Amino acid sequence: MANGQQAELGIVQQTLFFPLLARARETERKRPLLRDERAVELVRKIDFDTGTFNQSAMSFLVVLRTMILDWWVRQFLAVSPGGTVVELGTGLNTRFERVDNGSAHWIDLDLPDTIELRRRFFSDTGRRRMIAGSLLDEDWLTAAEQLPGPYFFVADGVLPYLTDDQVTGLLARIAARFPSALIAFDSYPRKILEMEHKMAAKRGIARWQWSCDDPRTLERFGLRLLESAAPTRPPAGLRATLPARYRLLLPVANPVLGQGAALSLFSALPIARQEIS
Ligand SMILES: C[S@@+](CC[C@H](N)C(=O)[O-])C[C@H]1O[C@@H](n2cnc3c(N)ncnc32)[C@H](O)[C@@H]1O
Repeated sequence: MANGQQAELGIVQQTLFFPLLARARETERKRPLLRDERAVELVRKIDFDTGTFNQSAMSFLVVLRTMILDWWVRQFLAVSPGGTVVELGTGLNTRFERVDNGSAHWIDLDLPDTIELRRRFFSDTGRRRMIAGSLLDEDWLTAAEQLPGPYFFVADGVLPYLTDDQVTGLLARIAARFPSALIAFDSYPRKILEMEHKMAAKRGIARWQWSCDDPRTLERFGLRLLESAAPTRPPAGLRATLPARYRLLLPVANPVLGQGAALSLFSALPIARQEIS
């Protein structure tokens, strides 16, 4: 789009346009899975190459991924309405707009150039603030500690861009500093990482670095796996709210597509359990 806002983003940061475009395109469908008018507005206002970041037929999987993470955050807020949600690698995500209950506290964390772009469209409020920094820093953990617990950390399409050591170090740091916090994210097996590398080379976009064949192996970093899902295998309560065509088609698609992406909800172990694990 000509005359839109220019976005000066690093190659990894630019990947925020994948989920943004997926949510905008879904909103424009006749009977959308999710409505995100903000995403439609941002796609219209920001100058980027929609051809590069279009996932066409597969974009419903990205939308379902986000909806599953929304579902878990909503469940958390239903039990802990004044708790804190930390959106790790927020990009131009609008989860706060979708799930806010009027009393939650919220941090949107991303790298400085992403936050510079985000600040043009979103504002800090008494309960919600943006932090410019890396997931690999410690400062944001200290900022989160100042907000009321319990805590929910969510990373949507983010961890694959980190190395193995960076992901496990991050999870271990969260688990150690926020005992009993909930942590939810997506992960992909090795074979999908290899497919992403081919797509990344063709489109000139950032390559994933981290894959995980079995999320349960992450339990050794002070976590316990509470729930597992996939875009084609959403939690039963969420599935019941989907349009009929998805309720019918997802179980059919699951044997083929279900192994491609995992969504995991972990709990950080209480301190006593971490010491003996
Ligand atoms: C595919 S985008 C996902 C954006 C957002 N979570 C969403 O669902 O719309 C990946 C995001 O991770 C962010 N990211 C990657 N590495 C990061 C790091 N080390 N620290 C903070 N954010 C990071 C990027 O800037 C980008 O916004």
